[in-house]
Amino acid sequence: MKILVTGATGGVGRLVVDELLALGATDVRALTVNPARAGLPAQVEAVRGYLGRPETLPAALAGVDRMYLAPLVETNEQVCRLAADAGVRRIVDMAGAKGDHWQVIEDGVEACGVPFVHLEPGEFMINSGIWSAQIAAGDVVRDGYGDVANAPIALEDIAAVAARCLLEEGHEGRSYELTGPESLTRRERVLTIGAALGRELTYVDLPHDELVEQLNLAMGEYGAWYADGLRQMAGHPQAAVQTVAELTGRPGTTFAAWARDNTDMFR
Ligand SMILES: NC(=O)c1ccc[n+]([C@@H]2O[C@H](COP(=O)([O-])OP(=O)(O)OC[C@H]3O[C@@H](n4cnc5c(N)ncnc54)[C@H](OP(=O)(O)O)[C@@H]3O)[C@@H](O)[C@H]2O)c1
Repeated sequence: MKILVTGATGGVGRLVVDELLALGATDVRALTVNPARAGLPAQVEAVRGYLGRPETLPAALAGVDRMYLAPLVETNEQVCRLAADAGVRRIVDMAGAKGDHWQVIEDGVEACGVPFVHLEPGEFMINSGIWSAQIAAGDVVRDGYGDVANAPIALEDIAAVAARCLLEEGHEGRSYELTGPESLTRRERVLTIGAALGRELTYVDLPHDELVEQLNLAMGEYGAWYADGLRQMAGHPQAAVQTVAELTGRPGTTFAAWARDNTDMFR
């Protein structure tokens, strides 16, 4: 059974490759723009191509049974049609909560008629890297909406679920909401990073407009969108779901463990 991993050097895709190998997959193909520089494990067949340029895909899709689909919105519909034409028999896509920005990914997958598994992660733990410059520079994090809570997930846990959904039976047609194991406020996340560093950090809430100004520096046009999202989440904490534990048989990565593993990001 040949499995194609797209976005195979990406944050999630690279970990999907590792998980597949760890679970015993022997016929893994990885899509990358530059196989020579991708640094993929030797037993993986690295093929040249990019989801954003669908004309590069037919050769990569030839002979593929199952595919991990990284989320590239712009070309998704065409990519899914090519996968169907090539005879792919299962697509495991990473989208997001139903109805959000990533919905077009699930729509394109379903339109192409290939049996699917939708992975619907919420926020990623790695997004906490947004605080890395402030934490490296001092003990105060100026941000907003410190009481807003959600349950961010580690990329490793998304990849662990993805690999199982590629290899195992019984998942087709399912949508899996994926979160970390606990809901934490933004303030609690900063304090947890501090604990991992052995430092006492303070979270200072900025007024909305100042937060947008600050976010615009880091995110450009998405700053206002991100801040508005936080405002809407105020008073509506995202509950943690246990899908990762149920599907992998091991507890999801806690934010504290993630912080301990990623202290370099904040030094
Ligand atoms: N719930 C959520 O928060 C959510 C849900 C879904 C997605 N997302 C977002 O979607 C992204 C998903 O991460 P991911 O790990 O799948 O992918 P990623 O880290 O964005 O990597 C995608 C891969 O695509 C390839 N690529 C080739 N040309 C590229 C180009 N011009 N621009 C960008 N990538 C190019 C690169 O691999 P090669 O160079 O090897 O070809 C790259 O490693 C993240 O940015 C995440 O924030 C978020």
